[in-house]
Formats: sequence, C-alpha cells, structure tokens
Amino acid sequence: MTRALPFGALDRLAAEHELDIWEGDLPPGPEVLRERTADADGLLSLVTDPVDADMLAACPHLKAIANMAVGTDNIDLEAAAERGIPVGNTPDVLTDATADLAFALLLALARRIAQGEAQVREGRWRTWEPASGLGADVAGACLGIVGRGRIGDAVARRAEGFGMDVLASSRRSGVPLAELLERADFVSLHCPLTPATRHLIGSEALARMKPSAYLINTARGGVVDQAALRRALIAGEIAGAALDVTDPEPLPADDPLLEAPNLLVVPHIGSATVRTRERMAEMAVENLLAALAGHPMPYPV
Ligand code: GLV
Repeated sequence: MTRALPFGALDRLAAEHELDIWEGDLPPGPEVLRERTADADGLLSLVTDPVDADMLAACPHLKAIANMAVGTDNIDLEAAAERGIPVGNTPDVLTDATADLAFALLLALARRIAQGEAQVREGRWRTWEPASGLGADVAGACLGIVGRGRIGDAVARRAEGFGMDVLASSRRSGVPLAELLERADFVSLHCPLTPATRHLIGSEALARMKPSAYLINTARGGVVDQAALRRALIAGEIAGAALDVTDPEPLPADDPLLEAPNLLVVPHIGSATVRTRERMAEMAVENLLAALAGHPMPYPV
C-alpha cells in the first residue's frame, strides 16, 4: 500500500494478508515504490503513484493492482496486461462527488466567489455596489461537456436543474468539439487522459471559445495545455478557468500559471468527501481480496 488509509475496509485486507504500508505522508516515489513492491503479491496504488513497465518488471510476484481512483492514467495498462496482472479501479462511487465539485467550480467562476472573498478579507468591501462584482448568469447559459461518461452525465443532470442548455462532445457521440467550444458559455472537461486527449485544450481550442466563456477541469491536468491557458487568460481570450487537476501535481506555488487572472485552482479534491473515499477504499480492497484469491476483480479496468 502506497499510503496509510484510515478507512475501515482495510481491516478486511489485514485479516487475510500481510500489509506493507508506506509510512510517508507523501508518495513513496518511483525507486522506493519499486523496491518495496519487489516481493509484493498485490499493490494498492493511488493516482500519485506511477506504475510503469519498468516498475512492473521489477515486481515478479505481482498478481493484482488496485488503484484507489477511477482514472488509471498513472498505470501502464498495456504493460500490466502483458504480464497478466489485473488492474482494478473505483468507478461510480465518486461520480456525484466529482460532478458536485465541477458544478461548485462552475458556480464559483460565474459568481466570482474567490474575488468576493478576497475583497472582504482585504478590507476592500466599501458598500453595496451597483456595478461591481458582476458575474455571469448560469440559467439560460450553454454548458459544453467534453467527455460524456458517467461524470459528464452527472454534470449534465446538475446543469439541467440549473436551467442550462447542455451540449456534449465525446469520442462516439455528441457535437464536434470545435462546435461545442464555439457555442458553450462554460466548458467542463470529463474525458480520461490518453495520448489522444493530452493537450486537447490548447491554443487552438482556447481560441475557439468565446471571450466570455469559462473552462472547468476536474478530469486530468494533462488534458489542458497550461502554457496556452495562461496566455489565453492573460490575453482575455476566455473569461476564466477553474482547475481541480493540474500538470504537474502539486502545482508549485510559483508556477507561472498562477500569475494568470481569473484562475481558480483547488488541489485535486474531486472525490474528496468522507463517504466517497470510504467507498473507494472498500472497492480497492474488494478488488485485491478477489484477485489474490484467484477470482476476477469485481471492479476491473
Ligand atoms: C481521481 O482523480 C480519480 O481518478 O479517482
């Protein structure tokens, strides 16, 4: 286990197996991960742990990888498949929590929550101002959802409740991405990070967006070209952006991106609710228990 997990489900794993738990608060890093996994039968990994072909080659006993996440871009799935190692993830249980966060970011951008809070704390709240702090209407606005999987669908349901028009674009259905970018007032990203989606939102995509439009990313940092985003925010090519995910993570406090205006960044908290994380841990444990007993994982990738 690449981190201590304070969730009850771990007792079930400990009852059947010997656990080697990385003791640090921060991820172990590739070398330590390789060393500590060298004799392991199973691995419980997090999004912070790169599990690549080299690492797998150094772990000859490994029979199961349970990633406590729905995304698996930290794992070389092909290399795992070549070695016959099943990989499991934790879909569904984090759909609502992540969709809630995407919507929270959307509303925070639209209504300038971060700017308003800073104004109060910095003693700049002078009076009720008729034409200051003005944001964008959400009702009647068009939300463009890039990647219409489980989380994209859950965001669409929220948007309908808020009276928004919803457009979606995904590999197999919906409108072309270019059209979505041109029509949407808010663009929310919900696709996985793959070679095809890396930097999907770069200069060209950002230039297609309306100058009044906002970008929300709760998917993976690598889907957005952050240098291009910085330029677009500074040039006023788009009105603002909110990111729960960045590249790299953590985003250093002196990263040039953070100099851009109208940018809200939170530290990868899409699934961070008590119940959701408990359920993610349960699923990861169930995947390991099954695979180590020689059964199919209940939540395989
Ligand atoms: C978190 O980012 C996840 O993929 O579960």
